[in-house]
Formats: sequence, C-alpha cells, structure tokens
Amino acid sequence: MEIIVVKDYEEMAKKGAEILYHEIKGNPKITLGLATGGTQIGVYNHLSKLHEDRPLDLTALSTFNLDEYIGIAPESENSYHFYMNKYFFQPMSISQEQAYLPNGLAEDIEEECKRYEKLIAHHGGIDIQVLGVGSNGHIGFNEPRTSFHCRTHEVNLTDSTIKANARFFDAEDEVPKKAISMGIETIMEAKKIILFASGRNKAKAINQLLRSDEITVEWPVTILKTHPNVTIVVDEAAYNSDFNEQILNLGKYNIFIS
Ligand code: GLP
Repeated sequence: MEIIVVKDYEEMAKKGAEILYHEIKGNPKITLGLATGGTQIGVYNHLSKLHEDRPLDLTALSTFNLDEYIGIAPESENSYHFYMNKYFFQPMSISQEQAYLPNGLAEDIEEECKRYEKLIAHHGGIDIQVLGVGSNGHIGFNEPRTSFHCRTHEVNLTDSTIKANARFFDAEDEVPKKAISMGIETIMEAKKIILFASGRNKAKAINQLLRSDEITVEWPVTILKTHPNVTIVVDEAAYNSDFNEQILNLGKYNIFIS
C-alpha cells in the first residue's frame, strides 16, 4: 500500500489528477472505475484542466461507475449520471458509448446488476478503480456489515449516508433510500485501486484502514488491506486523527508526505 499525505483538499485533487493523467496516458485502452461524491469533484476538475492543456487520446478508454441511486432519472441533477456528465464526461469529451453507470430506473434491479457485472467482465475488468470513502467506512455504497463477497447489488442506504448525502439535495427526505452499487468483490478485482479522502470526518475511517490490523465488515474500507495494489491520497485532516499514532507505526507501508 502506498500512502500519499498532502496538505489539503486542493493538493489531494491535484495529486489525484496527476496520477490519473499518467495512468491514462500510459494505457489509452484503460478501463476506469469511477466514484462520485464531493471528494472526486476536485480530482476531476484538475484532470480536465490537464487534459485541456495536454490532450489525452481518450477514444479507446472506457469507464464504469461504482454506483447509482435507485428511482432517480439520469437527467435529474441529483443522479450520478448527471454528476458524471457535468464533472467528467463533458469536460473530458467522453462519449455515452464509452461510459457505463448502473441504471437506477431498471424495472428488474437484479437483472440490471447481472448485466452490469457482465459488461465489466466483457471489458476485461477494471484497470484502475477510483474510490472515496464514507465517514462510516463505506466504499461505493457498500455500507457497514455488507458481505465482502458481494458483487453488484441493490443496497439500502444507512441513515448516516442519507444524512451525509443530503447536502446535494434540497431536503433530506429527497435522498433515495436505495441504490445499485458494485459489490466489494467487484471492487477488489480491480487491478489497481486509488482511494481519496479529505477532511476530519473521514479520519476515523482512515484510522481503521491504516492503524488497525482488523479487517472487518463493520468498516468496509478495511478490506483494502488485502488488495495488492492500493494507493491512498489523503489530506492531513483525514490522515492526522486524534488517535496519537506515530507515522513509525505505519512502517509496513510506503508513506510520502508532501
Ligand atoms: C458516497 C458515494 C461514494 C463516495 C462516498 C464519499 O455516498 N456513494 O462513492 O465515495 O460516499 O462521498 P464524499 O466524497 O461526498 O464524501
């Protein structure tokens, strides 16, 4: 595991964009797994700027999103389809044919999950999976106590996730209660994972990931300890918790502090 500690959100976004830029440049046929959420907005904004200055060949790239709310139309401002169009697909000129998200309006959600898994497999799996983390340790929308062995599935969102995501909606009761999410097994099959975290509300989840030896369904993010190729880009607020652990205790990881 490689841990890159940066000063703040802006530095996390810049560093993340640089990493993604070089990965795409090195493999124009890359299949990216993408996340949404406030954390990634800065990363995608900076990546778009890099692409504007030094254009990448994106014609052979494919993207798969981690998740989508159930019951929200793709045109709705609150859908992850809308978010992705705004922050990634339009600025990067990625066509609809290259970009996959679960269909939250599918009549048969179970079938939709199977279809999504098949599509990922058909593309040879995810090369790089971008992840954020919920303050309760969720990855994608895999909430605490989700089996590590699940694949793309329907999830019930926890109250804490609904509250956390309410900031993107007009009112908390507008936040959907269900979503489709890649499963933890699906995520773990990515060849490489890059996790981004910023802010004190992520410190507890990052602490569970870095400073505890436990791998537990109570903190889904802890499964990343078993993945062979993970990079974490984390800002000081998310990394320096009140847990008084010294960097020395993390000697098993490669840590870069910039
Ligand atoms: C959301 C998304 C995740 C995201 C995480 C953190 O609910 N489903 O993909 O990574 O929670 O969100 P944020 O970056 O807004 O804190």
